[in-house]
Amino acid sequence: MMSFNISFPKTALATTLAASLALSAAQAAEVEVLHWWTSGGEARAANVLKELMEAEGYGWEDFAVAGGGGETAMTVLKSRAMSGNPPSAAQIKGPEIQEWGELGLLGELDEVAEAEGWDDLLPPTVAEIMRHDGSYVAVPVNVHRVNWLWANPEVLEAAGVEMPTTLDELFSAGEAIREAGFIPLAHGGQAWQDATVFESVLLATGGSEFYQHALVDLDPEALGSERMVEALETFKRLRELMDDDMSGRDWNIATSMVINGDAGMQLMGDWAKGEFTAAELTAGEDYLCAAAPGTQDAFTFNIDSLAVFRVEGEERDAQHALARLALEPIFQEAFNLAKGSIPARPDLDMSEFDQCAQQSLDDFQRTANEGGLVPSMAHGMAVRADVQGAIFDVVTNYFNARDMAAEEAARRMVNAAQAAL
Ligand code: GAL
Repeated sequence: MMSFNISFPKTALATTLAASLALSAAQAAEVEVLHWWTSGGEARAANVLKELMEAEGYGWEDFAVAGGGGETAMTVLKSRAMSGNPPSAAQIKGPEIQEWGELGLLGELDEVAEAEGWDDLLPPTVAEIMRHDGSYVAVPVNVHRVNWLWANPEVLEAAGVEMPTTLDELFSAGEAIREAGFIPLAHGGQAWQDATVFESVLLATGGSEFYQHALVDLDPEALGSERMVEALETFKRLRELMDDDMSGRDWNIATSMVINGDAGMQLMGDWAKGEFTAAELTAGEDYLCAAAPGTQDAFTFNIDSLAVFRVEGEERDAQHALARLALEPIFQEAFNLAKGSIPARPDLDMSEFDQCAQQSLDDFQRTANEGGLVPSMAHGMAVRADVQGAIFDVVTNYFNARDMAAEEAARRMVNAAQAAL
């Protein structure tokens, strides 16, 4: 610093200033991206997009709001948007994209979509979710499957059990695992995780048509039915397989219990695979994946997407670059390998993907053709946010209540859906 005052030549100073001005001009072309990808695997995945943007000379301002399932992130996003200062892009999914579109806050990406041929690249059902009023307002980054069971093969072996394929097998394997001295089912007691497990149980006990009637169409008859009561009761029985310390636990901590061999299994979407991958474990060897017991013929899909807000000038260029990169093969491959999901565009070479991802792709296509492909309620793909919130409340209150009858929870389910409509 001293030598700076005394001997820094004027010309050099001018050059430095000019360079730093140029730098801040370059940095002005940046995107601020809100997401909730903060676990080990998720952060690795998000970083792929950041690095690709930076390689093209754009800046990336990370707006990460921790909290699995994204409820906290959405609350923060609403307050930022209400104060007239939304980020350039945000992870907004499913029907919620329409809600933001109706508020008139989203920008459009038609120019990029046309130049890149999105209409031909994306399956029509996926493209439909990304459009509001006929214009693209969001770009899909992946397809997650929610109805998965993950397991530690060493724990299963120590308990002398195989990967369960039915709910009955899950309960009996769970018992054997407990007797062998492990926690059978790793879980985090948070509303969205309860709902994630619940929808897989309902899919198993009621089948995908019932799932569609109840959790997508919100048919009051289905919501209040005997089948709903059965799903709720079976769901609650799963508590027997969970540990006492689950309250408030994050999902990735639950996954790490399976990784460490403290627990045998976890029911969770395939972002859990991102954690196994980040720990450098190999699918089929170090950990096992299978459809959630009893749901082999169903696929609850959860498509992550980045919606863009209305912005001007350079920020808009950066936003368009983000949207373009998000569907490029290089990003789709690297991101999804880290995230645990499969690419949003079906035309990519999948040879680098592990057996769980291959199975996900096969099952996605099979259930799309034969029936059984349903949107995840727990992950914002089936119903609007207010209905989802009301269903979460019923599910989690029932799961934690000492003495609420399943019939009462089913009645509340009907009311929740009606009140929110
Ligand atoms: C889902 C989201 C995934 C993953 C998960 C856990 O809703 O779609 O990308 O982040 O939550 O936070």
